[in-house]
Amino acid sequence: MRSPPSAASGLPAALWGSARAGLAVALALALVVSACSRAREDDPRATLTFIDEGRPQATIPLKTLTQRIQVDEVRGYDPYYKKDKRFRALPLARVLALGFPERRSLDDVELVFRAADGYAAYFRGALATEAGAYVAFEDLDVAGWEPIGPQRANPGPFYLVWSKSEQADLETHPRPWQLAKIEIVRFEAAYPHTKPPGERGPDDPATRGYAIFRERCFKCHAMNREGGRVGPDLNVPRNILEYRPEEQVRAYIRDPSTFRYGNMPPHPDLGDAGLDALIAYLGAMKDRKHDPKD
Ligand code: HEC
Repeated sequence: MRSPPSAASGLPAALWGSARAGLAVALALALVVSACSRAREDDPRATLTFIDEGRPQATIPLKTLTQRIQVDEVRGYDPYYKKDKRFRALPLARVLALGFPERRSLDDVELVFRAADGYAAYFRGALATEAGAYVAFEDLDVAGWEPIGPQRANPGPFYLVWSKSEQADLETHPRPWQLAKIEIVRFEAAYPHTKPPGERGPDDPATRGYAIFRERCFKCHAMNREGGRVGPDLNVPRNILEYRPEEQVRAYIRDPSTFRYGNMPPHPDLGDAGLDALIAYLGAMKDRKHDPKD
């Protein structure tokens, strides 16, 4: 933080009781407050880096972002804080347009939002450009950010939030904090062993299951050692359907807590069609095992 101008401390002591001094103190305080809020925008660590299929695009400081994009106030229920929150924030679609100026549309790409602590959230491009997605850079309720999550982390300098009430589910609308990088990836290129084998059209159940897996499961589960590490790899050394009956896997995905208390969330909204597709994908992967340890 810049040191505040010292208008008050330079005044003779005799003036302290006077109205003029009171005014000077108030003025000095106002300057301190505005210096603090400007300091946040000047913070050299508050930058976002953009990478397009491995090619670095730009690292944009918060100050530039707020000069180029209109700042909004976002308010609403936050599922991490479990209460209403208010933030100063930038519409994500505008941030992406600034970071990836050559991309006309992000509808057909995948995005990875990388946090400074190593967490990575995967988004379909179409999800990232949904109205209601914002990059928050200032907590308007608690100066310097209210701590978040079980580790009481500082979510700054950037915290992804969603403004609409139907976007409050963390499963479908993730909220990565400590956001540092946004990358466009071609999923199949970055994770070549997660794709179901054979030529399959877009309506093939395994193709649809693969899409659901990428969006809902991949952040926690690996497939052929590629992906998240929170839950078990679902294909190697043995495919989950090689040691669990299909009905049990379905019921588990729908609501794991009916089996045991653990860290996997339920998926009540997938429905039979979604579960059919996931089972088709998991089943297809039996014929495509890849274990770099072999
Ligand atoms: C937030 C992390 C997380 C997400 C998201 C997640 N899982 Fe899990 N999953 C786990 C963990 C952790 C386990 C290990 C057991 C436990 O803690 O309940 C697990 C276990 C499993 C199992 C093994 C059950 C068994 O019989 O041992 C299956 C199958 C499974 N998950 C499938 C899925 C599918 C399919 C999805 C996506 C629709 C998914 N999971 C999403 C964390 C997750």
